[in-house]
Amino acid sequence: MAKAYPNSRFVGVDFHAPSVDTARKRAADAGVGDRVSFTTAAAQAYTERDFDLICFFDCLHDMGDPVGAIRHARQALKDDGTVLLVEPFAGNNLADNSTPVGRLYYAASTMVCTPNSLSQEVGLALGAQAGEARLGRVFAEGGFTRFRRATETPFNLILEARK
Ligand SMILES: C[S@@+](CC[C@H](N)C(=O)[O-])C[C@H]1O[C@@H](n2cnc3c(N)ncnc32)[C@H](O)[C@@H]1O
Repeated sequence: MAKAYPNSRFVGVDFHAPSVDTARKRAADAGVGDRVSFTTAAAQAYTERDFDLICFFDCLHDMGDPVGAIRHARQALKDDGTVLLVEPFAGNNLADNSTPVGRLYYAASTMVCTPNSLSQEVGLALGAQAGEARLGRVFAEGGFTRFRRATETPFNLILEARK
């Protein structure tokens, strides 16, 4: 993103310090280290503010408190800002997800995503197959009034939320 948008500044957030260390190194190697900074913090706790865009890449369902993370993002976002949410592709019903991709995601979710969420405060455990309707309720609880599917790929839902 920093390479594609050379006039923009970026802040990366994750609570896993070794991942943040790797991200810093990769940003420096890519020559964008002057416009990219990283914070090791929970999604409910970073202090940076006034973002035009906040992105959640394949992580909201891993969080114990996704509603808290979305509420926090709402506070950190400018009034006309946007949240971009990328999540594993899933339909709203179990039967919709009985596909090769859906089965793979249910397996990964059971072994990785759901235990990760359950290990954190609140422990909502959305799972990797939450689907658009359930994710939309998380955003509504977090204070967002607009939520839509911007696009999709065979593997991902790409959703947009605005205040
Ligand atoms: C499936 S990985 C995705 C990582 C990265 N966003 C990507 O797209 O490659 C999920 C990430 O969410 C992070 N994570 C989980 N719960 C979190 C929380 N409450 N606050 C901040 N990061 C969290 C994990 O440390 C992990 O790096």
